[in-house]
Amino acid sequence: MAAAMRKQLIEYLEANKGFEDSEVLCKDKGWDHEVLVGAIKSLQAEEQVTAEPIKREGWKLTEEGVQYCEKGSPEVQVFNFIKSKGSAPNADVDAALGAVAKIGLGTCMKNKWVSIDKATKVCSPTVDSVEDTVQKELSSLSSLDKAKLDALKKRKLIAPTSLTAFKVETSDKFSAASQKAVADLTSEMILKGTWSSTTFKPFNLTNVSGVPCTGGHLHPLNKVKTEMRQVLMQMGFEEMTTNQWVESSFWNFDALFQPQQHPARDAHDTFFMEEPSRAQDIPADYLAKVKEMHEKGGQGSIGWRYDWSEDEAKKTLLRTHTTAVSARTLYKLGEEYRKTGVFRPKKYFSIDRVFRNETLDATHLAEFHQIEGFIADRNIGLPQLIGVLRDFFSRIGISKLRFKPAYNPYTEPSMEIFGFHPILKKWIEVGNSGVFRPEMLLPMGLPEDVSVIAWGIGCERWTALLYNIRMIKELFSFQQDVAATKKNPMCWLRRAED
Ligand code: PHE
Repeated sequence: MAAAMRKQLIEYLEANKGFEDSEVLCKDKGWDHEVLVGAIKSLQAEEQVTAEPIKREGWKLTEEGVQYCEKGSPEVQVFNFIKSKGSAPNADVDAALGAVAKIGLGTCMKNKWVSIDKATKVCSPTVDSVEDTVQKELSSLSSLDKAKLDALKKRKLIAPTSLTAFKVETSDKFSAASQKAVADLTSEMILKGTWSSTTFKPFNLTNVSGVPCTGGHLHPLNKVKTEMRQVLMQMGFEEMTTNQWVESSFWNFDALFQPQQHPARDAHDTFFMEEPSRAQDIPADYLAKVKEMHEKGGQGSIGWRYDWSEDEAKKTLLRTHTTAVSARTLYKLGEEYRKTGVFRPKKYFSIDRVFRNETLDATHLAEFHQIEGFIADRNIGLPQLIGVLRDFFSRIGISKLRFKPAYNPYTEPSMEIFGFHPILKKWIEVGNSGVFRPEMLLPMGLPEDVSVIAWGIGCERWTALLYNIRMIKELFSFQQDVAATKKNPMCWLRRAED
């Protein structure tokens, strides 16, 4: 309604440039004055018109006034009733007209229109016809003088009103095109370019309550990552610095004693970088030791026995596992030992993103998150690895674990970890683990008797299982289900005994 009024008003102003009195205009056009005032005010706010208020005092009929205006004044109603019957007992008049009879009969008597027989209480008309001046007055309030208005007011048939009409004139900012003034920019306006010729409503930054804010929502992965982080910290692990997604092949593969011909180093499995294509920051003495270990071995190892290429090692890539981060951290531990002669046992973890050139399917994404941990200490090996994994998994609700011998170029022995899922009631692969090979640790300068036990777990699979997400891309990709993120439970962890 408001939009239609605005349009009509603009059309009128376009033709007439203004008007003297909005109330008069409304009467003329049959418009609702309140709605017109709304439209005037919106144009005024946009400085398209000037509007000068005209305060106007007036009168309006009360409810009672409306009744009498329609049906006649009480005195005339009573007179007409008695007249129509010839004469009538007072009780009949009361019964027929109710409250009106009580008010009207008195006035009829005072006006000498009716007489009542004292004995019989029968009312009879004393004149032929009467004129209803009250009704007439009520239907033409604007032509009444003050005395008559006061009398009607005293009878509570009318009440004073005040109304503000407006004198309106268009300003130089007035434009008929502004009837299209809109509140929202739409994609269609952008596509068609019509936004540039569209007039937008100014922002109303006062007197608006705004859309109520809803709370934020945590992505399931964030919840799982946070929970895992807490569990690992409770177990005394420190978090590694993982802020480097782009790595050199050196830290991702070579430092881990992964031979350069290894199939995982193929572009089918790894995203290599085009720019910059080579890394610069590899410590020269360490690089020489890694080269030596790959080519010739040492301290009991015969190495991989091939010509190790420095250029291949410098190729940049998106890290394929967080073990690259573990390698950097272990190298720093070795450095500290070389500098101070003191080795301090350490427990480290990382939770961050890795990238693999995978074919995407229900359970695989090209980027995902790993939870990795290692312990560097003397006198530790497979039993401690199994122990710490049992501890970790039981804390996240998987109390039954099985281990299967496996192969990693950088761990020996290596174990795949299987956990019995308490909800799915089946064994699922949950991670990979092992004891880092001496060929990896010795070039770093760690003491010979220090072992490092380590494991890696994919974060997404876990989260998908916990949140009952069947397609992993609904969890983490451009196709993710935002509504599910909003609705998912605040707490995800289902313990084995649930
Ligand atoms: N890097 C291995 C993977 O990506 C996980 C792993 C970490 C295995 C540490 C052994 C030791 O699957």
